[in-house]
Amino acid sequence: MSDLVGQRATFTRMDQSTKEDWDIIMANLSHHAETTVADRVLDQLALLEGDHGGFACDRLTHSLQTAHLAERDGKDDEYLVCALLHDIGDVLAPFNHPEIGAAIVKPYVSEANHWMVLHHGTIQGYYFWHHIGLDRNARDALVDSPHYEPTVEFCGKYDQMAFDPDGVTPPLSHYEPLVRSVLRAG
Ligand SMILES: [Fe+2]
Ligand SMILES: [Fe+2]
Repeated sequence: MSDLVGQRATFTRMDQSTKEDWDIIMANLSHHAETTVADRVLDQLALLEGDHGGFACDRLTHSLQTAHLAERDGKDDEYLVCALLHDIGDVLAPFNHPEIGAAIVKPYVSEANHWMVLHHGTIQGYYFWHHIGLDRNARDALVDSPHYEPTVEFCGKYDQMAFDPDGVTPPLSHYEPLVRSVLRAG
């Protein structure tokens, strides 16, 4: 660990900052990314427990079931972390939640997996948007992307299938090592 970790820059206006200041800040940033980001993400995910939002199961159960169904299909660790985190923004940005999850995973995952998290809301809309006055086929506008079909698979086989209060639901601890591994590899 750099001996700059824990030190503080001295500037009070950024236009007066120096390279030495930024060496300190960047060392602290790297240390945070290495040691703390996964904990913060897991803490935020845990906040979804008990928040059912009118659904039959709470949002943490939905997230865990989504990851479980993908795991049962043999998807890789990066995919499972995306499945686990795809709705992490639900309670922070209820009108555009996919952007939150996508932003969190972006530095650590493939373009395909990032695209999947970012656009899952529109593609999932096929299953319910006609019930809330929206166009369930709005996802057709995304069909030219090479990531469209894999995201249709994600929504069809995992995301929209994961609302069962009696469904198999691994504990969050089951996925903690994957989250720590994937969110450190950026
Ligand atoms: Fe979602
Ligand atoms: Fe979801």
